[in-house]
Amino acid sequence: RQAPVITIDGPSGCGKGTIAAMLAERLGWHLLDSGALYRGLGFAAASAGVDLDDGEALGRLAQGLDLTFSGQRLLLEGSDISADIRTETVAAAASRVARHARVRAAMLGWQRDAARPPGLVADGRDMGTVVFATAALKFYLDASLNERANRRYKQLNDKGVDANLADLVDDLRERDGRDQQRALSPLAAAGDAIVIDTTTMSVDAVFAQVMDAVRRSL
Ligand code: C5P
Repeated sequence: RQAPVITIDGPSGCGKGTIAAMLAERLGWHLLDSGALYRGLGFAAASAGVDLDDGEALGRLAQGLDLTFSGQRLLLEGSDISADIRTETVAAAASRVARHARVRAAMLGWQRDAARPPGLVADGRDMGTVVFATAALKFYLDASLNERANRRYKQLNDKGVDANLADLVDDLRERDGRDQQRALSPLAAAGDAIVIDTTTMSVDAVFAQVMDAVRRSL
């Protein structure tokens, strides 16, 4: 009873979360925002004062973590942390906890469990390369660093949050570097992924291209 899986990977700000949510909605499939899990762990670790370099302690924390999705909301021990995990501080903590083998191992079963009928759209860094390496359809979205920082800047502005564009560029560059250069599950396009550079594309144009490939493959 293997449910079909479509994976969407890419760096932060490439638009994968938006496209994954649109696709899951259109197909009536489940959605896995794997980055939210790493953010949830980063948030929990910071709250509990666990050293972000201590892979063993983080692995233990990940194993016992009471994280659940309720629709698009993420709950930690029953309380809604959806807003708390969207800060740049938590993003940085997420990419630091995500380097550890024990952490990634603890997350694996949890993520694969999300592949249930009628199907799953999974977005993250290693959905197509590791977690769902046998997925029938894989996408890798990319965009220039400046464009991604701009999108994030607008997003924050729209929410009324103060942001500094130069700081966002630095944050993204640092997180990209960590995600691409780590030994385990580094950010990379799967060999069989459809790569889309979204730098000059609208969300609708990206979604149209994705839907085209989906229709041809399903
Ligand atoms: O996608 P998002 O920006 O929410 O992810 C936060 C961090 O979690 C990433 O920078 C990355 O280090 C980590 N992550 C990961 N593997 C995934 C998804 C996210 O290592 N599949």
